[in-house]
Amino acid sequence: MNAQSKMPLLAPYPELGEAPIPVEPYLSQDYYDKEIEKIFRRDWLVVGREEEIAKPGDYKVKRLDFARTSVILIRGKDGKIGAFHNVCRHRGNKVVTETGGEETLGSNKAAVVTCRFHGWVYNAKGELVDVPQQQKFPACFDRAENGLIPIHVDSWAGFIFINLAETPSRTLTEFLGGVVEHFDGYPFDDITHCHTYYAHINCNWKTGMDAFCEGYHVPTIHAGSFPGLTDYWQGDVAFNGEHRSIAFYSNGMNPPTPVGTAANALFGASIALARDEPFPLPKLVNPGRHPNWGFEQTTVFPNFLIHVGAGLWFTHQFWPVAQGKCLWEGKYYLKAPKTNAQYWAQRYAVILQRNAWLEDTATMEDTQEALLSGVLKQMNLQDDEIMLRHQFHIVNGRVNGE
Ligand code: FES
Ligand SMILES: [Fe+2]
Repeated sequence: MNAQSKMPLLAPYPELGEAPIPVEPYLSQDYYDKEIEKIFRRDWLVVGREEEIAKPGDYKVKRLDFARTSVILIRGKDGKIGAFHNVCRHRGNKVVTETGGEETLGSNKAAVVTCRFHGWVYNAKGELVDVPQQQKFPACFDRAENGLIPIHVDSWAGFIFINLAETPSRTLTEFLGGVVEHFDGYPFDDITHCHTYYAHINCNWKTGMDAFCEGYHVPTIHAGSFPGLTDYWQGDVAFNGEHRSIAFYSNGMNPPTPVGTAANALFGASIALARDEPFPLPKLVNPGRHPNWGFEQTTVFPNFLIHVGAGLWFTHQFWPVAQGKCLWEGKYYLKAPKTNAQYWAQRYAVILQRNAWLEDTATMEDTQEALLSGVLKQMNLQDDEIMLRHQFHIVNGRVNGE
């Protein structure tokens, strides 16, 4: 039997092979430690959107459990964003208390942050600008040497990236490579009304990524939220270095629900419903302008999934917390509704999507727990799971490389 003839997505990429992939990367502490050291502490990671800290003095604190740190992102009076470890240079307290949990947003007109323990004050360049009772410190104490510890930061398309390496081996533009052109012109900045969900999940971060990277599970796992969405197909595979893209097509809900049809007419905010209105897409997204195109998913290596549709976009991010623990963040972006009817339609779309995400996340702990039995040594992947195969090859290459 010619197996490859049934695998049109994989056929152009013989380097990915057809063999099953090993389970060990999902279970091994040593493998996890290497992922943190060789990937997460070296690569550019998405930690926010520029509009979250739009004005001078706005700041955001993002926890990074895999690195046992949290990062302060603060916009200065010059409009530039600085990134710093949230560690006070006095006695190490968190400068900004993480009242928001995973993400804390705040604002200070003077564009400074103040440690609540003894009141040391830092500006948006990380400089230590005030120390209460400084005369009681020894003469050798120098404010200039005690600014916040900086982290490399840069932005693309409104996404704020940080890099924890002392000296990143690549600039953000070099790291993103073809991803920049791929999304050229997509109006991320214009569709900013965000709905956010978080969950701590007892699974390896890749178990989480995998569950969102293929359409094979849609007819079964999503039979509850999208009962009529059985006819789907995938295409437009594109690999840009470590990053990967794939598009999802469908014939929509069959039959469409009356409520869904009404919501779509009012706002068109669901990926499960067809849209009539034209929407400008980058030329590399849905390049054939196929009418049944639903959305495209791009994984910005290592842990960030961007899904773009016509008029909406959403992201998933899986942060390693420990070998068998991760944090999932799901964010759904729409244009702000202008009328009550639009508000209702948008709530319908968001809740439908939330339910689908609950269906997705519900598999993850079961998968991890079953893998922990140790009886399964490898996973058999079909054509629609090509993104998982690519992820394995890239991660494995990095873990086993220098
Ligand atoms: S620990 Fe921050 S001012 Fe003392
Ligand atoms: Fe799903």
